[in-house]
Amino acid sequence: MNKKLLMVTVFFVSACSGQATQVPLVSAVPTNSNVSFANDVMPIIESRCVKCHGGESVKKGLDMTTYEGVMKGSTNGVVIEPGNADNSPLIESIVNKKMPKRGTKLTPEETQLFIDWVNSGAENN
Ligand code: HEC
Repeated sequence: MNKKLLMVTVFFVSACSGQATQVPLVSAVPTNSNVSFANDVMPIIESRCVKCHGGESVKKGLDMTTYEGVMKGSTNGVVIEPGNADNSPLIESIVNKKMPKRGTKLTPEETQLFIDWVNSGAENN
């Protein structure tokens, strides 16, 4: 291998190894407890969910326009279990990409915000 190619290769490998992270979906990573419902979670809900879960259209009785509505759940019951994302139907719905039913799915980072928010207590913070 000539010297120039070697250097390029070394640079490439070291540049990539630093960010070899693929964001795991469910709670395998330590919970980021700094997630805010109002600042982090609600903006995503407003842009991706309330079209069908708020205002005139409230699919399955799940009204996500307020914190209270999210916690109240749907006609099937609660969709968030504070402290337990693995047992929260709302989290399941975005992890398995059933929701949002139409439009762009959430990115892994956005999904992780929901997971962290629930795992750190699903507070109205
Ligand atoms: C295009 C419309 C649409 C959008 C956008 C949408 N939903 Fe839904 N959602 C539905 C419909 C319709 C149902 C009823 C079940 C079904 O048809 O799958 C539903 C059901 C659900 C349920 C299950 C309720 C239950 O107990 O059965 C959850 C949880 C949910 N949605 C969460 C979300 C979240 C979170 C978002 C945003 C990230 C979202 N939805 C965006 C249409 C939508």
